[in-house]
Amino acid sequence: MDYPQLVKIAEKAKEKAYVPYSNFRVGAALLTVEGQVFTGCNIENASFGMTNCAERTAIFKAVSEGYNNFQAIAISTDTQEITSPCGACRQVLIEFGENIDVIMANVKGQYEVYKISNLLPLAFSPNKLEEERLNE
Ligand code: THU
Repeated sequence: MDYPQLVKIAEKAKEKAYVPYSNFRVGAALLTVEGQVFTGCNIENASFGMTNCAERTAIFKAVSEGYNNFQAIAISTDTQEITSPCGACRQVLIEFGENIDVIMANVKGQYEVYKISNLLPLAFSPNKLEEERLNE
């Protein structure tokens, strides 16, 4: 699976976005190291804070199906400028590896790729919980 193909899958997933409040559609396509692809869209709610981003939809689908090794995630929006994932999605992504490629695509399918570790410097990641804790 190459990245242009993954972007196309994210574009298709965007069509499923449930966005009656923002009308801001986001699609995601998450590629596992096994080559499986899980898609996601944003899902809004009348109680706005309950909204789930496209990226987290895809991640939760994958993990709940037994996949948690990810190579890349493509994200597609309808804007001219590329859209980068929100802080919550960055945190959820880095849980599963600092080397995940984040592919951000604009409405024309043009994209840029960043490592998740570059999008979330000094992250609180699983290894932090392994560090020695000193209690008084
Ligand atoms: N949204 C995403 O799906 N992913 C992001 O990384 C940023 C924001 C969604 C949430 C909401 O439905 C809409 O975009 C506007 O914030």
